[in-house]
Parts: sequence; structure tokens; C-alpha cells
Amino acid sequence: MTTTRPRRLGHAPEPASLDPAERMGRDELRALQLERLRWTLRHAYDNVPHYRRAFDDAGVHPDDCRDLADLARFPTTSKADLRDNYPFGMFAVPQDRVRRVHASSGTTGRPTVVGYTERDLDTWATVMARSIRAAGGRPGDKLHNAYGYGLFTGGLGAHDGAERLGCTVIPVSGGMTPRQVQLIQDFEPRVIMVTPSYMLTVIDEFEQQGLDPRSSSLEIGIFGAEPWTEQMRREMEERLDIDAVDIYGLSEVMGPGVAQECGETKDGLHVWEDHFYPEVIDPSTEEVLPEGEQGELVFTSLTKEAMPVVRYRTRDLTRLLPGTSRPGMRRIEKITGRTDDMIILRGVNLFPTQIEEIVLRTPGLSPHFALELTTRGRLDHLTVRIEARPDCPAERRDPAAAEVARGVKDTVGTTVDVLVVDPDTLPRSVGKLQRLTDNRGRG
Ligand code: DLL
Repeated sequence: MTTTRPRRLGHAPEPASLDPAERMGRDELRALQLERLRWTLRHAYDNVPHYRRAFDDAGVHPDDCRDLADLARFPTTSKADLRDNYPFGMFAVPQDRVRRVHASSGTTGRPTVVGYTERDLDTWATVMARSIRAAGGRPGDKLHNAYGYGLFTGGLGAHDGAERLGCTVIPVSGGMTPRQVQLIQDFEPRVIMVTPSYMLTVIDEFEQQGLDPRSSSLEIGIFGAEPWTEQMRREMEERLDIDAVDIYGLSEVMGPGVAQECGETKDGLHVWEDHFYPEVIDPSTEEVLPEGEQGELVFTSLTKEAMPVVRYRTRDLTRLLPGTSRPGMRRIEKITGRTDDMIILRGVNLFPTQIEEIVLRTPGLSPHFALELTTRGRLDHLTVRIEARPDCPAERRDPAAAEVARGVKDTVGTTVDVLVVDPDTLPRSVGKLQRLTDNRGRG
């Protein structure tokens, strides 16, 4: 994947404002991780029947973990394991110690339920506050939170962290786009937290109301919950005149605030390794890959009480890199996609983010596009529909479509159909965007 130099960089927080763990050296942090890992393995084994069975079946015991590398001997955990223990079977504490539950909807079947003790909620607020500060947010900032509130972890997770940092939270949640614009105009927040796809919807709404989004009070956008590219960063930074930084997390591990990109470097996301231990594995063999190699991200929680997770397979694809602005903590590269978002088209692997990069570097095309898989004869076929920008001349549409098709052929190596459609005709996101419709086998 190509990376472009970020257009602008924010200011680093004062060193004195960092949490002690953010200032730890690698060795000190690793010692803390080992101690916490041993506690987690013991806690999971003693209190969650699933882990006791899985460890016993694999012939390992918590006492076998004497070094961080020993974790590789323990079995991985999948979303199916969580689903099989629906709703509360993975909890490691009595129900009266669980202060809150969240759930991730999932595309099929039962949701995955996760729980938090009082201390877990405190940890979450701490790492989330750390994330907002790393992004460039400061105590006293007004923060517009357009992540959805409810069972989704985005809204409440960001909310508690922002309060913990000392921000004034504007708990808007997702949806009612004209009102989002009005509240940004009237309340003048400095920071916005929202999915990147919904941010685009809000930017479009500014323009439709005849307002210049660049003149809004916003200076920092903290975008996550779905993959987005460097090209999308540039698009949002330019149209909104902000610093756009990436936030990563998942319900099973905590929620938002597992890893965060620093505003002053914009070079990938530091994993808050005092609470979450990352590994990258080969998704087919489960072999642990060395730093720098691309594979599936796996997390073990280090301090979670209500629902510890041991080697949870995220399905997210990335690689581990050494720390920069937080030297003790490793980074993950911006997530390219999920193993289950990967489209296999006539034997070639393709991710929606690859299409996003190509669309956004093609003059005349907007960032709004949708993908549809169909079957023609015995072959799978992908159609890419892209909205023209409102100022795109009619005669530019066909050449732009041809450029995208050529770009996909050149970089991915497969043929797709590209249609450039009228502005404002494709569905808009209010949260996580579903780009792909799979109509294979339907006529
Ligand atoms: O999406 C938590 C979250 C909320 C993160 C708000 C950031 C901001 P889930 O609904 O459980 O939790 O979905 C987790 O979303 O495994 C990734 O596939 C994807 N994801 C989350 N952040 C990013 C990101 C929340 N920055 C799943 N880049 C994860 C790419 C992301 N994908």
C-alpha cells in the first residue's frame, strides 16, 4: 500500500502530562506485561470454563508461562468461541461485579456480549483519555462525540475517556446529520470523534447548507471503527482543515482506545501495551510472525477482570512496528482490512481500501463508492459505483471510470466494472459503512 507524507502534524503533549506507562522503556514495560499476563492466564483458567477446557486440551497450564514468548503455546480464541458462550459464559467474575455490558452486532446471528467491572471501566476511561491526548486533545477542549451511543462501544467509550481527560463532552451520537452541523456551528467544538465515513456525510451536509467546513471550529478529528486510507486522511484534512488521526479498538478487547495514532507523528497507532498485548500471526497456520511482517492481529488483555481474552483473533490485518513517539510501546500499521472483508475475485485478493486509494487519487471522483459482487456465468464479477464530485464535468466521467478500472488492473491485477454515478445517489453512512453488497447467486 502506498503511503504519502502527512500534510500536517499536531503538537506533542507535555511529557509531564503522559501516563507513567507511556514513559516506560521497553524492558520495564515487558516486565510489567509478564506479571500481568501471568495473572490474566491464571484468572481466565480459574474462572472461565471455556479457557480451562481449551488450555487443558492444548496441554498447557498458566504456570507454563515464564516468558512473554511462552504465550504462543496457548490456544487462540475466536469470535465463534464468544458466540458459543452467549451471552455471559466468558465472564470471569460474578454478575454483581459486572457494571456494564456492551455488544457488537456482528453480521450474522447472535451478537457478541462483553462485560466490564468497575476497574475495567476505569482502565478503559484511562486508555481512552490517553488516546484523545495523544491525538492532540487537551483538558478544557470541547469534544463533539458522534460515535453511536448504546450497545456499540464507540459512544460511551469515547465519552468516558473525554470526561476523564477533562474535556467538555457534547454527546451527540450518530444520525440527524443537519443537527450535527448546527451543533458544530453553535457549540464550536475543537475535537470531533466519529467514523470516517460518517465524517464525510457531515462534511457534505456543511456544503449542502452553503457553509464552508474549513471555517468551522474543528481542529482535530479522531476517526476509527472502520478501515480508512491515507488518501481519505488527506481528503478530510483538506476539506475540513483539521488534523485527522486514527483510533483503533474492538469490543472483545475493550472498545475504542486499544491503539492510537499520535497527532505529532501520524505514523501508525501505538498499542497501549500496558493493558493489551499484541501478536501478529499467520492466519492460516497461526504461527507468530516477527515484527514487520503482515498478518492477523491477536490480542491478550493484561488487566481485564470481567472478561479476560487470551490470544483473541481480531481478523484485522496489519503488522507490528517499533514505537516512535512512545518508544516503549509498539505500533500497528494502519489496518488494511479484515480477513472477512477480503474479496476473492477470480483468485485475486482485493480489499475495499485498495479501491478507496485509487478512487481518491482520480480527479473528478468523490470518496463515496459502493461495491457489488455478482455472478456472470460461472465467474464472480465486481462492480464499483462511484459518485462524481458535484463540480465534475459530464465529459470527465467516462475517462475517470476508465482510470479507476486501469488502476485496479495495474495494482491488484483483476478486472472490475466501474460506473461513475450522479452525486448524492449512493447510500450514506451514519456509523460503520458497509461498502460491499454480495449478490452472488441471486439471478
Ligand atoms: O469499532 C470500537 C471502536 C469504536 C474503535 C470507535 C474506534 C472508534 P467493534 O464494533 O467491536 O468495536 O468493531 C471492531 O472494527 O476489529 C476492526 O475490524 C474495525 N476497526 C476498529 N477501529 C479501526 C480502525 C469498535 N481504526 C472492529 N481501522 C475491528 C480499521 C478498525 N478498522
